[in-house]
Amino acid sequence: MGYGLLKGKRGIISGAIDENSIAWKIAQRAKDEGAIFTLTNAPIAMRMGEINKLAEECNAEIIPADATSVEDIENLFSRSVEILGGKLDFVLHSIGMSPNVRKGKEYGDLNYEWYKQSVDISAMSFHKFMQVAEKQDAINEWGSIVALTYMAAQRTFSFYSDMADAKAMLESIARSYGYRYGKLKNVRVNTVSQSPTKTRAGGGIGGFGNFFEFAEKMAPLGNATADDCADYVVTLFSDLTRKVTMQNLYHDGGFSMTGISAEVLEMIKPAE
Ligand code: NAI
Repeated sequence: MGYGLLKGKRGIISGAIDENSIAWKIAQRAKDEGAIFTLTNAPIAMRMGEINKLAEECNAEIIPADATSVEDIENLFSRSVEILGGKLDFVLHSIGMSPNVRKGKEYGDLNYEWYKQSVDISAMSFHKFMQVAEKQDAINEWGSIVALTYMAAQRTFSFYSDMADAKAMLESIARSYGYRYGKLKNVRVNTVSQSPTKTRAGGGIGGFGNFFEFAEKMAPLGNATADDCADYVVTLFSDLTRKVTMQNLYHDGGFSMTGISAEVLEMIKPAE
């Protein structure tokens, strides 16, 4: 049962590919809170067909868009406004992909064409979303834009490779565009830095399983799940957070502020 936090609000939710996707949970939660929205993903992701289930459940139309294509994004925003019957109040960017990570390339052996793709898909697309939205004047005053990120933007996690650089850029875009969009239209822009979460993108990272357990043992509240993330993001789309902007908001059970936990210390006993 929702609280009606998003009653009357319209939005776009990207990045739901299967029921483990963080965006999938956010869509379900946004629906519970009374929002109407369109769903989008890369045309290639449509082939899996899973997203149709979510669309049916949420009574939402799907608009395929490759996040690297300005043309696709223009169509996404203009069609969404048309279908939903008015300007948007929220946009979720839940898109990330690194061919280097997928193919196990180490940071000292990156393929630069793939590096460009990582940055284009995972970071520059966020700028493209906002530039298109601004040019089309597609977002209402006090609208809210959220992108999902990871703490490897601030601290090194050896397995995160070029995605760390993409996330650092994503968070910088949130600040730069947040300033601009705030001045222009009172639209707020934030990133949510989420715990490791068992999804397709998460599972594609080498050593993810071990790291998930480590983070679980470090965070005093344990890892935040995709459902927890959905709860948090819904508050950011709501009118209850109208003065929060240009922030990178940690949603990680306290992991980012923990030096070391008792559980992890216990695991690393010195040799007798
Ligand atoms: P996911 O694999 O379910 O979602 C990633 C989405 O990106 C997929 O739906 C995929 O189709 C979409 N995508 C990839 N290339 C695209 C393109 N060219 N155009 C449009 N869409 C494209 O995985 P998850 O974990 O839900 O990822 C969502 C976001 O959360 C990503 O930005 C990810 O980096 C971030 N995140 C994930 C964490 C995790 O441990 N799973 C932790 C922190 C952040």
